[in-house]
Amino acid sequence: MLTDIETVLIPRQRIAHRLKELSAQIARDLDDLPDEAEIVLVPILTGSIIFLADLIRQLPQKIRIEVVTVAGYPGKSMTSRGPQIIGALPDDLKDKHVLIVDDILDSGGTLRLIREKLASRQPKSLRACVLLRKQRQSALDTPCEYVGFDIPDVFVVGYGLDYNNYYRNLPDIGTLRKEAL
Ligand code: IMP
Ligand code: MG
Repeated sequence: MLTDIETVLIPRQRIAHRLKELSAQIARDLDDLPDEAEIVLVPILTGSIIFLADLIRQLPQKIRIEVVTVAGYPGKSMTSRGPQIIGALPDDLKDKHVLIVDDILDSGGTLRLIREKLASRQPKSLRACVLLRKQRQSALDTPCEYVGFDIPDVFVVGYGLDYNNYYRNLPDIGTLRKEAL
């Protein structure tokens, strides 16, 4: 599997280091909320699982987790056909402080869709956090309060990100060799 990786873009040590900074920033902002504030993290499955696992263990606050499943890359696809929500969305978000967590901001379609859907549940606040953001206009134009890394507009796998549902378990983030596609 490791031989399928062309270049390591972000090694695990850099991810861990940036995650400390990012989680500290999020924790500070959550600390500013009133004592009675209810916090709900909404991870977007499946890509966010590793990021989520590492992030939440660095947040000392009392938080709930409500997952959302989105499919956008059917089969061996590297371009999204538009995000599709699978199953139900969390409905008990009224007056809660909601933080959406996703792996990567690409076209921005997923984040825009989820934000719009969750906003209709009337949360008290609604923010988003992504580990990666690609350097393309549509990604930069999509509102997102917390961004781990800005990366070039290339297809990446590892640390939760997949190709054809593989490679999520790689500890580093990297690009794939053509032969692996
Ligand atoms: P968007 O809706 O185009 O912003 O795409 C967001 C979703 O597409 C992410 O949650 C990922 O699951 C997937 N995605 C986008 N770019 C990549 C990539 O480079 N590698 C793996 N998955 C990606
Ligand atoms: Mg995803």
